Amino acid sequence: MAKDNVSNRASVRISVPFTNQEIELPVIQASEGPSVIDIGELYAKTGLFTYDPGFMSTASCRSTITYIDGDNGILRHRGYDITDLATSANFTDVAYLLLYGELPNKSEAEKFATEIKQHSMVHEQLHFLYRGFPRHSHPMAVMVGAVASLSAFYHDYLDVRDRTQREISAIRLIAKIPTLAAMAYKYSIGQPFVYPDNNLSYSEDFLHMMFAVPAEKYKVNPVMADALNKLFILHADHEQNASTSTVRLSGSSGANPFAVIGAGIASLWGPAHGGANEAVIKMLEEIGHASRIQIYVNKAKDKGDPFRLMGFGHRVYKNYDPRATVLKASCYELVKELGIKDDHLLDIALKLEEIALNDPYFIERKLYPNVDFYSGIIYRMLGIPTQMFTVMFAVARATGWMAQWKEMMDDPEQKIGRPRQLYVGQTKRELRDTPFGK
Ligand code: ACO
Repeated sequence: MAKDNVSNRASVRISVPFTNQEIELPVIQASEGPSVIDIGELYAKTGLFTYDPGFMSTASCRSTITYIDGDNGILRHRGYDITDLATSANFTDVAYLLLYGELPNKSEAEKFATEIKQHSMVHEQLHFLYRGFPRHSHPMAVMVGAVASLSAFYHDYLDVRDRTQREISAIRLIAKIPTLAAMAYKYSIGQPFVYPDNNLSYSEDFLHMMFAVPAEKYKVNPVMADALNKLFILHADHEQNASTSTVRLSGSSGANPFAVIGAGIASLWGPAHGGANEAVIKMLEEIGHASRIQIYVNKAKDKGDPFRLMGFGHRVYKNYDPRATVLKASCYELVKELGIKDDHLLDIALKLEEIALNDPYFIERKLYPNVDFYSGIIYRMLGIPTQMFTVMFAVARATGWMAQWKEMMDDPEQKIGRPRQLYVGQTKRELRDTPFGK
């Protein structure tokens, strides 16, 4: 990498294959972490594209929201460490931080939390949408449809070029997604929908909408609300992962934010992404007993077997996922508070973690527990059914998605996302050589 002494701008020179040409590409400095080679003009200058399936070396955007150093287990939002945020802030404070770049002062925090509460109810007509789904629908299927359907209710206020409309859409989405999620659960068990309660915090209200019934008074357990607050904060944003990239790409065409978040939810649903916490519990249930752990560890190591240890490994963290550290502590707090004695799944999880962390296969590949390894166990302790786990993730991540979408829409360099391809199909051939030829 060369540095121009006059302008202090770095660049790289590459020689273009099949020609004697050399070109210079600028390097854009990151404030932390890897800088990037700006290849925007590569095609115009050389006629070549770059090829990077899975985006292993490609930055898809410029962002100021979240910083991850996977080798050192670091996750920061707007410069603040995730552990500090998760142990000291409310979810709505972190939402404010993600959306606006700074932590709120006391009056800003109250104003923002109130604004969220004032948008937490959903249109009554949405009840009919829910009633169209089979009762046994997967709640993620309901969420993909319900969240995207919000665009039908705010159609006249969805000019994405208008900054005020964008701000209000973000508030609406963050406020309504817990209500929609709790409704998906209530619908699946045949209980009446519970309206939001503006006297409660974001996480308290979610527990209330999930577990209250009209026939009885529901009292929120503060330790459970605190655990949920942490879970929401820890899942709020995670840089340019698959679902966030889906949100940015679908939003880049100018599509409305509710439809865009529907696309994000669809992407999150996959087992390699948000579906992993559900898969962790299924795996622990399948293992069934500590004596069977080694069988599953061996299966995970067997290259002829597609089985992977769910909740282990991460594309970016090649060290302990810092979110898993917070959740492990939170897990122990809940065990104490709820007086849980013999939770066989928790026992299996702890033993599995110990075995995997000491196994050369996992050590060599830097496969550590990720956030989903513990989140499923905690959701289970909170009484949240397995099918709702990925929905919980979507509720929390909606904030990050909106922050990333807003940042993209505010970016003067913003263009419709349009990747190119390496075409390896047939070259030109003639229809006349086929049964369709005349
Ligand atoms: N169990 C066993 N082996 C694994 C696992 C696992 N969970 N994860 C990765 N490996 C192995 C791979 O087989 C590969 O081995 P090899 O080098 O001998 O071929 C090596 O580790 C590298 O794996 P990749 O798949 O190349 O890593 P990648 O970064 O692409 O994958 C992923 C990351 C998808 C998360 C993967 O670790 C995985 O499938 N984990 C289980 C699912 C999971 O927990 N997902 C949640 C992610 S966190 C989130 O979305 C919030």
